[in-house]
Amino acid sequence: MKKAIVLVALLGLSSVAMADAFQKCAGCHGANGEKKALGKSKIIKDMSKADIVAALHGYKDGTYGGPMKGLMKGQVAGLSDADITAISEKIGK
Ligand code: HEC
Repeated sequence: MKKAIVLVALLGLSSVAMADAFQKCAGCHGANGEKKALGKSKIIKDMSKADIVAALHGYKDGTYGGPMKGLMKGQVAGLSDADITAISEKIGK
């Protein structure tokens, strides 16, 4: 019984952390990734989970992106691999 409570508490925490990771992205990409950020990006909710993971890692190491990739590099710099996976699970198809 105790175990179940701890599990529920942990799940609650991780879903809050997940929502937080996308919080700062929503201003440009929309709450569910439904907007073209600054009129430039793809509509990221239409991207596959794998494509989102690849794009975010690519922005981090400078191997992906268009004219505004510098802006996205700043956005993803502080994200862990777990954050990137969580974001792709939340937003991607
Ligand atoms: C200040 C506005 C802004 C914020 C905040 C922002 N983005 Fe972006 N995002 C953009 C723009 C502009 C592009 C297109 C960049 C380029 O030229 O490659 C983009 C591109 C992307 C792409 C690739 C789509 C494509 O067009 O290839 C993904 C995925 C993405 N952003 C996810 C995120 C995530 C996740 C966050 C939060 C950690 C975030 N963005 C925060 C503006 C923003």
